[in-house]
Amino acid sequence: MKLQKTTKLRGTVTVPGDKSISHRSVMFASLAEGTSEITNFLEGADCLSTIDCFRRLGISIRLQPGMGKVSVHGRGLHGLKVPDTTLDTGNSGTTLRLLSGILSAQNFSVRLTGDASIQKRPMQRIMEPLSQMGAQIASEKENGCAPLFIQGAPLRGIHYTTRTASAQVKSAILLAGLYADGITKVTEPCLSRNHSEIMLRLFGADVSTEGTTAAIRPGRTLTARKIHVPGDISSAAYFIAAASLVPHSEICIQNVGINPTRNGILQAAKAMGADITLENIRTDNGEASADLIVRSAALHGTEIGGSLIPTLIDELPILAVMAAFADGTTVIRDAAELKVKESNRIDVMTENLRTMGCDIEATPDGMIIRGGRPLHGAVIDSHADHRIAMSFAVAALMADGETCLPGSECVSISYPGFFADLHRLAN
Ligand code: S3P
Repeated sequence: MKLQKTTKLRGTVTVPGDKSISHRSVMFASLAEGTSEITNFLEGADCLSTIDCFRRLGISIRLQPGMGKVSVHGRGLHGLKVPDTTLDTGNSGTTLRLLSGILSAQNFSVRLTGDASIQKRPMQRIMEPLSQMGAQIASEKENGCAPLFIQGAPLRGIHYTTRTASAQVKSAILLAGLYADGITKVTEPCLSRNHSEIMLRLFGADVSTEGTTAAIRPGRTLTARKIHVPGDISSAAYFIAAASLVPHSEICIQNVGINPTRNGILQAAKAMGADITLENIRTDNGEASADLIVRSAALHGTEIGGSLIPTLIDELPILAVMAAFADGTTVIRDAAELKVKESNRIDVMTENLRTMGCDIEATPDGMIIRGGRPLHGAVIDSHADHRIAMSFAVAALMADGETCLPGSECVSISYPGFFADLHRLAN
């Protein structure tokens, strides 16, 4: 993919369904009794990995390709079957970690793996709490990473306190807690995305929350539901940035999920001077969404850290791009988690933005970006990380000359139609 500077963005765009909510819809529907109908499901590679894994676990799932419509014929909490192959989670950390929580409690054993990136990501963070619950879970290479071998076992409820806010860890523990012999609680240092708590409750699970503690009591059966997935704010973030940065822009991004545990990008962008208006705010099954009107604005640097970080963790690459074009210095701190995402996002952002001429420094837990210099096009190495590729597609719209994104097809992990939508707005 090659991209050039553009003069304005105009029009309306509808981003695809939320990735986190799409994963959970298929997982929880598989464990529910009856047929759940899901609409606006994200047909990105990660969520297709979740469908593939649950099909291999004996669940009948009908996907109408291109329509975002999925019917899941759930078989109840104890209806999964032993798969006849290794489960392949592809590039998806959410699939691997949440599934591990569920599989820890089954009466069969499974081997789980994924692509080269997933095999480098830390799994000790789920292995430790799940083992405390009684799970038999081992890293095949004994390096704390996938492939994982899980031998299902009876589980006991625990109260686990996490060191880092992570919805994947919290959700893995809560899902194991569905099968434990007593109450299971997870306390986080600050609140991570709460889609699991909201949707598990919708399916009938006994989930309660207080502050940064989520608790689940076993014993309830889950019942099929209709789920409409809101648009993904993490995908909307690229257009929020692009329309803010490119002069003379005005766009409408329709049907974007604005759950408060996910919408930190709105706060951070507004702190930088972005002009974002929310219209048509509504709530469906506990998840709020809105249409976003974004107009170009003069941006300035800001500080991003603390409890805001989990609410915009996946948006830090695109926020770094905004910071590169904003006047003044932006400091991102408390974000060491960026090192263990699909790529080391601190190093990869620093390396590539510097190649384009940006004054940027990597720190142990973030980045310091001295913005406002003109950037020039370059060849970007996205390390097959979808969020890096999309972030630099936006940077390209503001840079002098041509930007080349080899391997840009990785955007299909979370947003298969990204370049088509971007080109439409820029023309
Ligand atoms: C996700 C949680 C976050 C996020 C990831 C999706 C989820 O990861 O970065 O893209 O769906 O629960 P962590 O829980 O590891 O922070």
